[in-house]
Amino acid sequence: MIKKAAAVLMAAAMAVSLTGCGSITSGKRIIRISHAQSETHPEHLGLLAFKEYVEERLGDKYEVQIFPNEILGSAQKAIELTQTGAIDFVVAGTANLETFADVYEIFSMPYLFDSEDVYKTVMEDSDYMEQVYESTDEAGFRVVTWYNAGTRNFYAKTPIRTPEDLKGKKIRVQQSPASVSMVNSFGAAAAPMGFGEVYTAIQQGVIDGAENNELALTNNKHGEVAKYYSYNKHQMVPDMLVANLKFLEGLSPEEYQIFKDAAALSTEVEMKEWDKSIEEAKKIATEDMGVEFIDVDVDAFKEKVLPLHEKMLNDNPKIRDFYAHIQNVNEQAKGEE
Ligand code: GCU
Repeated sequence: MIKKAAAVLMAAAMAVSLTGCGSITSGKRIIRISHAQSETHPEHLGLLAFKEYVEERLGDKYEVQIFPNEILGSAQKAIELTQTGAIDFVVAGTANLETFADVYEIFSMPYLFDSEDVYKTVMEDSDYMEQVYESTDEAGFRVVTWYNAGTRNFYAKTPIRTPEDLKGKKIRVQQSPASVSMVNSFGAAAAPMGFGEVYTAIQQGVIDGAENNELALTNNKHGEVAKYYSYNKHQMVPDMLVANLKFLEGLSPEEYQIFKDAAALSTEVEMKEWDKSIEEAKKIATEDMGVEFIDVDVDAFKEKVLPLHEKMLNDNPKIRDFYAHIQNVNEQAKGEE
């Protein structure tokens, strides 16, 4: 605890002293990357590969520093730091990006992708995704790559076996209006809060549960306080590696290419680590933490929230093209079955 507090203080002091245009020490430009996960998380491992790739090629000019565990601030705060250029990159879930760029609301739509294969096909289509990434330029940042963050499911102190079990339960969601409507449509009461607050909120009974991928149980220890994890599979939501736009624009074409290649490599590493880490997390959660994994009738959950698709499309014109694109990929996959 003391160690964490000291790290927070140090990071806060550093954030205050940042100049707004990156910093240069010992002749090198320091590149700061913030993320919310622990040092064993696949994203951290992917970012280590990013650092190594950049420094091997441009190490006389740049040093990459990675700040895990939200030590530079919660996702929302770190996105703001990236927008202003106080730091250069942040890994953020799309829910956290929604308030900065409407298009990312699409990922909060429940049951958007028919399968994990469709999700990966869409995300790996870099030509298409590049347009989406560039669409946030006016917000002062651009996504450079994506990371798999698995499938989100409900977990709680008491078992959720049917949608009815969600009734009246207070469930933590990310701080995004679309996530709030999603959980409310399931009949639960959405409680938006930062990721770092969830453990204590469950422990103290402020909320009954949350929704996330399996790593939340182990990496973030939520499995200590919530013992039932239900595979209702409501969302597949990527995390994004977001860069300050001015930083990217200040790079020479050769340097830009190196950063893009480093980003692509980090995704490759992250995705390989992801599948392994989910298997490990399930084992640890079951055997060491006593978490029960529950298979549910996914269609029953899906039926409850499908009307949200039309509502979201009506409310947000920015997601319509992307939605149509994803539906095409869903249809194509059905044809191939
Ligand atoms: C996952 C995801 C994060 C997100 C977090 C949350 O860990 O990878 O990007 O912020 O869930 O629910 O807040």
